[in-house]
Amino acid sequence: MSKTPDAFLSLFPISTEILPGGELATAGFSLRELAARYGTPLYMYDGATLKAQLSRLRGLLDQNYPGEAAVAYAAKVYFSTRFGRRLAGLGLDLDVVSLGEMDAARQAGFKPASIHLHGNNKTAAEIDAALEWGLHAIVEDSLDELALLEELAGAGRQPVPVWLRVTPDLDVQTNPHIATGSAGSKFGLHLASGQAKEALRRIQESPVLSLTGLHFHLGSQITDPEVYREAVEGVLGAASEEGAVPMEFSPGGGWGVRYTETDPPDDPAPWIQAVCEAVREGCSRRGWPLPRLVIEPGSRSTPSAPRKRRLPGSGSSPWMAGWRTIRARRYTAPATARGRLRNRLPGMTCPPGWSAGTANPGIF
Ligand SMILES: Cc1ncc(COP(=O)(O)O)c(C=O)c1O
Repeated sequence: MSKTPDAFLSLFPISTEILPGGELATAGFSLRELAARYGTPLYMYDGATLKAQLSRLRGLLDQNYPGEAAVAYAAKVYFSTRFGRRLAGLGLDLDVVSLGEMDAARQAGFKPASIHLHGNNKTAAEIDAALEWGLHAIVEDSLDELALLEELAGAGRQPVPVWLRVTPDLDVQTNPHIATGSAGSKFGLHLASGQAKEALRRIQESPVLSLTGLHFHLGSQITDPEVYREAVEGVLGAASEEGAVPMEFSPGGGWGVRYTETDPPDDPAPWIQAVCEAVREGCSRRGWPLPRLVIEPGSRSTPSAPRKRRLPGSGSSPWMAGWRTIRARRYTAPATARGRLRNRLPGMTCPPGWSAGTANPGIF
């Protein structure tokens, strides 16, 4: 693909245009002026792009899935109370991974019934807050977490709605640092080791937990729809062997977004079709009702922005960065010894192999 102005512009938010004088503007704001005013890197989110992406995904779900379906925004992409207030009006579910995100979500007006608490290594404080606030689901990531949740949930209240994050151990074709569904992943309960089935049994036997959903997240920048089919079938198969019928199914996000002019045109249809078909077929073969399907686009909610751009005519280090803001902030945070250590620990904020203060080989 040649580097035409159109190909270049297609990487930016949809409200970006080249002004008659040659300057770039997004939503009517000159990028050069914004860079001069706020400094760079400057992260921008375009409401028109976000809404267009959501309505495209909703349209695809309507066409391909006869059951109930929802789009959950993954707050790790970017979240602030102010931004959240805009999102809260769009009928989205929300994935959060920390107390801070939970609190911001509450202040932004998200109803607890639309929030899922993800993340591995959840702290007791995070779990307590999720229980107290009555979130839609706590997404369990390990046997240790299950034990902690059972202890904190205690008797005498309604069983806590739990989704189980299953790691299907598939060879996901993407940068290994962001392939969270593969055999070496530190996330979720692995299928091959039998952990996932053990967790399914434990939740079903627990008087204080209720298994309401199954979840996997294969990674990011995935371009092969087949791997989603395989993962759906693997997870449904394990559930079926343990006699667990999911009311909700969340196959995560991860479908690749464009970074450069030469990447193929953006098209989420193969991803959504694959996921919908696999869930439909897998459930119908087992005589199960269709679960509520929850997809979790993260970067896809706000793509169409190059990760780094030299802004035309704007000085010596004029970079504008696009999406994946939170990651950029977290992983390029001051590289203190403490920060480095924290980011190497298995935690909800650190994908495998990433550490603070270093550029991610695949992303940044
Ligand atoms: C559980 C979960 N859901 C959704 C996402 C969003 O992924 P992406 O931005 O690649 O669509 C992530 C990203 O790490 C994730 O961990």
